[in-house]
Amino acid sequence: MPLPRQATGRCGISITIRTFRWADLEALASLQSAIGGNSDPISSQDLRLWLEIPTVQPELNCFLAFDGETLAGYLQVFPEVPIDNIVANAGVLPGYRRRGIGRLLIERASNRGVELGVGTIQVSVQESAEDAQSFLTALGFKFVRRYQRMRRGPQPSADPANAPGVELSRLQEGDHQVLSVLQNASFATHFGFSPNDPDDIRHRLHLPGTSPEDVVAARKDGEVVAYCWTRVEDGKEGLTGAVWMTGVQPSHQGTGLGRIILRAGLQHMLAQNVRYIELEVDEENGSARHLYITEGFEDIHAILWYQKRIRDQTA
Ligand SMILES: CC(C)(COP(=O)(O)OP(=O)(O)OC[C@H]1O[C@@H](n2cnc3c(N)ncnc32)[C@H](O)[C@@H]1OP(=O)(O)O)[C@@H](O)C(=O)NCCC(=O)NCCS
Repeated sequence: MPLPRQATGRCGISITIRTFRWADLEALASLQSAIGGNSDPISSQDLRLWLEIPTVQPELNCFLAFDGETLAGYLQVFPEVPIDNIVANAGVLPGYRRRGIGRLLIERASNRGVELGVGTIQVSVQESAEDAQSFLTALGFKFVRRYQRMRRGPQPSADPANAPGVELSRLQEGDHQVLSVLQNASFATHFGFSPNDPDDIRHRLHLPGTSPEDVVAARKDGEVVAYCWTRVEDGKEGLTGAVWMTGVQPSHQGTGLGRIILRAGLQHMLAQNVRYIELEVDEENGSARHLYITEGFEDIHAILWYQKRIRDQTA
């Protein structure tokens, strides 16, 4: 059943939930920066770039909770229709927590999921965020998967080996189609991976801190068979790098290309004098974990994925 536009939170405040409008951009950037904890604040220019990713569609998928004129909470839905799922990312201003706003936002997200015809909603939280985990458990979410955030320092990386017939280069403008085919093939069997749309990939290749030139590619017989998508950001900790995605075409997996392409990606970021490099990996992905550990990465914290069924069940 659709929710009324006005809902009364548990402490008697009257909360209005509505979808995002572009005029809300500044307020949403301030809200996300206030909720962001230890991460760097996000500028409205950068947030605009994230919201303009073609499949993001904030006017349909981003919900805002207002107390009068005050933006008190938000929830963004990321549709993953091909895998029957939506991912939600939410936050409520500290002074407005435990008043029922988070519950109202998750109900709106679940309704959006039903509208999209998907069966589940997933949310990720840091292992240390016990409040968020209690919130999700209270709403009927169950823990489903554990990821690790890993980091390595700026120590030099070994050179990529000279594998016969393998040529290292960078992607160029217009290579988004090639990248999306390779990315979708490399991750096809991975937990929670929803095939990427080429237009989304084109847009993501121009997000702050990355570009086609920052995707290191390995070619064999002229065909791109492995890639390491890197990102370098300038924040309060100085320049830091991230391995955003790295993948090897399934028919070439197990041939040493993963290590070659990872080292090439690390060298590309280290040449920019980053203080450290981070990545996230599924704890059950043994081969990737082994590769990262042996290239100097160490666990820094776990990220827990929670899930709830929304089909055949009221939110
Ligand atoms: C997680 C978060 C969105 C919850 O929002 P909220 O508005 O405080 O949550 P609600 O008031 O709607 O709580 C809903 C249910 O969760 C429970 N809950 C919320 N926080 C809790 C806590 N710290 N401990 C125990 N239970 C908690 C509430 O008791 C309520 O259950 P009930 O209705 O059965 O009593 C908010 O704490 C937040 O912004 N945290 C930082 C951002 C974050 O971690 N986001 C990721 C998670 S989506």
